[in-house]
Amino acid sequence: MFPSKDALPANIAFHHQNLLLPFPDEYIGKYDVVNVRVMVVALSSNEWEPAVRNMMTLLKPGGYLQWIDCAAHDCVIKGVPEGKQASNAQRGLDLFRKTLNTLGKTSNIAILHSIFQKSGLVSCEEEICSLDNPETRENVNLAVVVGIQHILTAAFKLHKLDEIQSIDQIMELKEAVLGDLHDMSCYFCYDVYVVVGRKLD
Ligand SMILES: C[S@@+](CC[C@H](N)C(=O)[O-])C[C@H]1O[C@@H](n2cnc3c(N)ncnc32)[C@H](O)[C@@H]1O
Repeated sequence: MFPSKDALPANIAFHHQNLLLPFPDEYIGKYDVVNVRVMVVALSSNEWEPAVRNMMTLLKPGGYLQWIDCAAHDCVIKGVPEGKQASNAQRGLDLFRKTLNTLGKTSNIAILHSIFQKSGLVSCEEEICSLDNPETRENVNLAVVVGIQHILTAAFKLHKLDEIQSIDQIMELKEAVLGDLHDMSCYFCYDVYVVVGRKLD
């Protein structure tokens, strides 16, 4: 996911790091702000608190941790015309949710705020933004559909998806979901949580 060096300002650098493992010494206690984004389908339920504690090690005293993540499990379909059903989109969502649960992903992003507090961050605040903006609908739809495709593919390869027997079936489902969204002008909608906390001075 790294952009090419030419596209970057000179003072930005990218490094690989497993956020569950200790950071190299040179990064510890060096940052005013640490921002984390969209780990909801990456982290298992028991990994959130260790991840928060590990990110805190990067902060200077008084520095802020900001974590932005999606309530993926609570994604809904809006805008379906009366009397119609977006059954393909709904099947995609149902399978997505079931697969996240099977893979042990956190179903309740609202716990992030309490994990911040439990980990010793202070002045913790949470803002919830509904992704329900006509201008971004198409992008959100595509992101959700691709998210569904990726998580189903991962679960299929791990042999943890009874309902799907082949990658072709996942691609067929993807096309059917896109068909519903297009034919009915309906859209996926979910909340984005922004949680901020400060490391004690
Ligand atoms: C949905 S993407 C979000 C990427 C980026 N933060 C953004 O907002 O565009 C999740 C990323 O987390 C990475 N990832 C998964 N597990 C990780 C871990 N334990 N440590 C660091 N990165 C991880 C994945 O490789 C993937 O690039």
